[in-house]
Amino acid sequence: MNSSGFTVTWPGRGEPEPPGAHGPAPVISALVPPLGAASGDSTLVEPPRAASGDSAAGKPGVRPRDEACEPRPYSGAVLVGDGARIAEARADLESHGLDPVGLAQLVYLDPPYNRGGSFDGYHDNMPRHSWLGYIETRLLVARELLAETGTVWVHLDDAEAHRVRCVLDEVFGVEGFIADLTVESNPKGRQLDRFFAGSHDRLMVYARDPEKVQLSGGIAAAVDPGDFPHVGADGVNFRLLPLRNTNKRFNPRTTPTMTYPLYGDPESGTVSVDPAPGLVEILPVFGDLSPAVWRWSRDRARERADELVCRTVRGRSGPRVDIYQRDRHEAGRIKKLKSIWLAQEVGSTDTARAELRAAGVDGFRTPKPESLMRRVIELSTAPGDLVVDLFAGSGTTAVAARELGRRWVVTERNPDTVRNVLLPRLGVSGA
Ligand SMILES: C[S@@+](CC[C@H](N)C(=O)[O-])C[C@H]1O[C@@H](n2cnc3c(N)ncnc32)[C@H](O)[C@@H]1O
Repeated sequence: MNSSGFTVTWPGRGEPEPPGAHGPAPVISALVPPLGAASGDSTLVEPPRAASGDSAAGKPGVRPRDEACEPRPYSGAVLVGDGARIAEARADLESHGLDPVGLAQLVYLDPPYNRGGSFDGYHDNMPRHSWLGYIETRLLVARELLAETGTVWVHLDDAEAHRVRCVLDEVFGVEGFIADLTVESNPKGRQLDRFFAGSHDRLMVYARDPEKVQLSGGIAAAVDPGDFPHVGADGVNFRLLPLRNTNKRFNPRTTPTMTYPLYGDPESGTVSVDPAPGLVEILPVFGDLSPAVWRWSRDRARERADELVCRTVRGRSGPRVDIYQRDRHEAGRIKKLKSIWLAQEVGSTDTARAELRAAGVDGFRTPKPESLMRRVIELSTAPGDLVVDLFAGSGTTAVAARELGRRWVVTERNPDTVRNVLLPRLGVSGA
């Protein structure tokens, strides 16, 4: 139970997982250098062995290609085995600077959704209660892996997401909840669905510690340069934002300190906090001319008067003079993301399959798109941070983390998927 005291239960909760639910302990299948390192630098490890229960758990036979060479810095590791047992590979990962326990800034889980299907290499049809126990086990593992500042991201669809939200509330605490995002995965909609053509997934985000969590408030890629149509004398694009607070909850009665006169010249654009010859007095008003307030205090307006511009606007009640802020599109600018992520921004399952084909691999039907994983990683981590994926599949997380200069550890239970999809996609050939 967590500090909020919230608990859930279901038949069979806490009982051992059914035979076959637990896979073998993960072993390192490949160590991968950062992008840009000389090709052929990957350390090849024994080819993935058949997952045959615990007997597969053994020391990974790490075989550097050139044993005479100094140890090379690796940024990522592909493990084959059950993600729930990732801590058993800790010593081997630690020797490569990739120990994940208590150090991961992002743990991503994209498990079988339990919709009753059977995909290449994995089944998606566990009895509901067993599936929930299986997910709970991996959420508890995710919590152990996370750094205090880290976040867990759980990808599901509406078949099970509401039940998993309850388990997440219990494992991470109600106060650990950050977001329950809607991700458009199939813009056309699954026409074979019975009543509604399913077109979205759910991506649930929780903090390991809500007091210490580090998560970006937005990303640079979400900023649309088209929103900044004007070009300043310095060549930097900008947009004009009303200095008036457009939220009707704020008015001279609720926020009396934010209503004061400014002075401006709509011809030259000049704005001043003090009266001067040729400048007209301007008070903030809404479109119906009822009194409003500014967004900036008088002190701030004085300090940053050169960012303000006076204009004549044609409002509902005729022309009037108003004040705008020149909001510049400067490097490093980020934008807060909405809680619905469209396929045109983050790709879809079709995009993801095309990415796999472009990488020269086929035979995995449920990949996530790379731009989605880039967004998740950019929001939740900084370069050099550690990213862990407990259900690696085709390795989209590894591809995106590597591209963004993060360290990463991904675990996939099916050795065929690792051998035929994940390693070739990363350009790491099996021995
Ligand atoms: C939905 S897919 C993940 C897709 C992945 N995000 C991608 O972009 O390719 C789920 C994957 O989890 C794997 N899997 C299932 N149970 C697992 C477990 N206990 N440990 C590790 N991987 C597991 C399945 O074999 C399958 O490849």
